[in-house]
Amino acid sequence: MKLLVTGGAGFIGSEFIRYWMQHHHEDKITNLDLLTYAGNLENLKEVEENPNYNFVKGDICDRDLVFDLVKDVDLVVHFAAESHVDRSVLDSSAFLRTNILGTQTLLDAVKEYGKRFHHVSTDEVFGSLQLDDPAFDESTPYAPRNPYSASKAASDHLVRSYHITHGIKMTISNCSNNYGPYHFPEKMIPLFISNLMEDKTVPVYGDGDQIRDWIYVTDHVRGIEAVIEKGKIGETYCLGGKDAEVTNLELTKTMIKLLGKSEDLIEFVKDRPGHDRRYAINYAKAQKELGWEPLVGLEEGIQNTIDWFESHKEWADRCRSGEYQEYYNKQYHS
Ligand code: NAD
Ligand code: DAU
Repeated sequence: MKLLVTGGAGFIGSEFIRYWMQHHHEDKITNLDLLTYAGNLENLKEVEENPNYNFVKGDICDRDLVFDLVKDVDLVVHFAAESHVDRSVLDSSAFLRTNILGTQTLLDAVKEYGKRFHHVSTDEVFGSLQLDDPAFDESTPYAPRNPYSASKAASDHLVRSYHITHGIKMTISNCSNNYGPYHFPEKMIPLFISNLMEDKTVPVYGDGDQIRDWIYVTDHVRGIEAVIEKGKIGETYCLGGKDAEVTNLELTKTMIKLLGKSEDLIEFVKDRPGHDRRYAINYAKAQKELGWEPLVGLEEGIQNTIDWFESHKEWADRCRSGEYQEYYNKQYHS
């Protein structure tokens, strides 16, 4: 099989490529990535010499390029996106362009050449749960509450509309919060681990009572593999973590404990505007129809992630230089 992976130099896309090349030796992958601040070819060092792997630097909004690449593959796995909520609050332009118009460009090419399309999406499209609400599942109505999740919701709607209107062969997965190696240190877990390793304070938004359902990135990638191999065309699958619903404050204390640091490093800062209270996923459909379930528990996954960051300090330092430093100052010091 020939795959076009978009956004394969980012956190989850690079895990997908490393995993796929290890488990599907015969397949060929082309990785189309614009290498924005979040894209890093260092994440793909272990596959770059593989003759079945090919990198193309480019934009998913570039119609000619996208049509050329899609023509030659069997399957498109679409990760490319602007992915950080706080950045979408500061400026949503790139989110609407990449997440909506980029997806539309890919869908037009998929429609033209009759290819299979898997769309990687998020649980944030469902909005925010109260403490006693049932977890999100495939029948939960869409109710996005920030520009990032609104743009991802728009892209999901477009993908379904191309299936219904034009008959494209698509699947969608909506996954909860990922964490693990190569996670860009602007997101909570890698930011907090990096800060704690240097005895810096960790900025907990608001009261720290918000809840997320954390999934180890390899479990997410295994879920996408299961959807590609066993999912039904036209269907959506929700993927979530293994007993991993915790408040941000509880999770922060776990990271502090595992790193042997002091809770005095917790700093409560101004809350995120429109901060979603709780996300949680019911993955019963994926379990029943695909035989998939998450395997890595939260404490084990956090320990692996800490071990990885401790042995990849230069990787994190390089991510945190340049453009990222400007963003960090704007987000936390203005
Ligand atoms: P990321 O920000 O780490 O990586 C995004 C990648 O897309 C980068 O390599 C970037 O260079 C590339 N990219 C951005 N704009 C592009 C464009 N116009 N053309 C080509 N490439 C472009 O993101 P991630 O955390 O790996 O998320 C990947 C996907 O998974 C996204 O679609 C995101 O919405 C979804 N998702 C993420 C999570 C999570 O917790 N991180 C959870 C569920 C779903
Ligand atoms: O649920 C899936 C989503 O998870 C993905 O679609 C997004 O791409 C991904 O970024 C992630 O979104 P979140 O906003 O939930 O993740 P983030 O790591 O930014 O924040 C996790 C929680 O931690 C959230 O409640 C906000 C809080 N937080 C975050 C940062 C960066 C803090 O308290 N302090 C911080 O400095």
